[in-house]
Amino acid sequence: MLMHKDVEEVLLSLDQIVEKSEELGKRLSKDYEGKTPVFIALLKGAVPFFAEVIKHIECPMEIDFLDVSSYSGVNSTGKVTIKRDVTTNVTGRHVVFVEDIIDTGLTLSEVIKEFKNRGVASYEVVTLVDKPEGRKVNDVEPKYIGFNIPNKFVVGFGLDYNELYRNLPYIGVLKRSVYEK
Ligand code: IMP
Repeated sequence: MLMHKDVEEVLLSLDQIVEKSEELGKRLSKDYEGKTPVFIALLKGAVPFFAEVIKHIECPMEIDFLDVSSYSGVNSTGKVTIKRDVTTNVTGRHVVFVEDIIDTGLTLSEVIKEFKNRGVASYEVVTLVDKPEGRKVNDVEPKYIGFNIPNKFVVGFGLDYNELYRNLPYIGVLKRSVYEK
């Protein structure tokens, strides 16, 4: 497999991601046995990972999508607005948020506040990658984590830099020269 010219290093291969997604899907199936959770994927980055995980969910489940904006470029702005809301009535439901990456935690923290107001029965977070060093809030610790990675800007498998690189079939570190011009 060829590495994209803007990628410095591949951190997680497709095989690693596929295998981990299966493992997480199986864990979720066990934990939600007897329930019908609503999985809410955060657009757009979580979509490829979400597609891998749901293949392995064995309990009845529903899916929905939420699009919030908090980022432009490589730095978090900390302001969250809902661009596209879920269409599911989540009151009394068990919700599983699916994220591509958690860095500061600010995005999820705001999302969780909003969904608590809507009266969810429970919520958990599953993320493909976590950058724990970047954390600015401590109320969003994900129960299901694919991989911990160092505090570097990564792209691929849904993750973007200014909307590009989401299609890469791996997660890699973006060369600094791409965003430091
Ligand atoms: P947080 O609010 O800082 O936790 O950021 C969460 C969101 O920021 C993710 O859903 C991504 O869209 C984006 N993000 C954070 N780190 C990276 C990265 O290394 N590459 C691409 N997007 C990132």
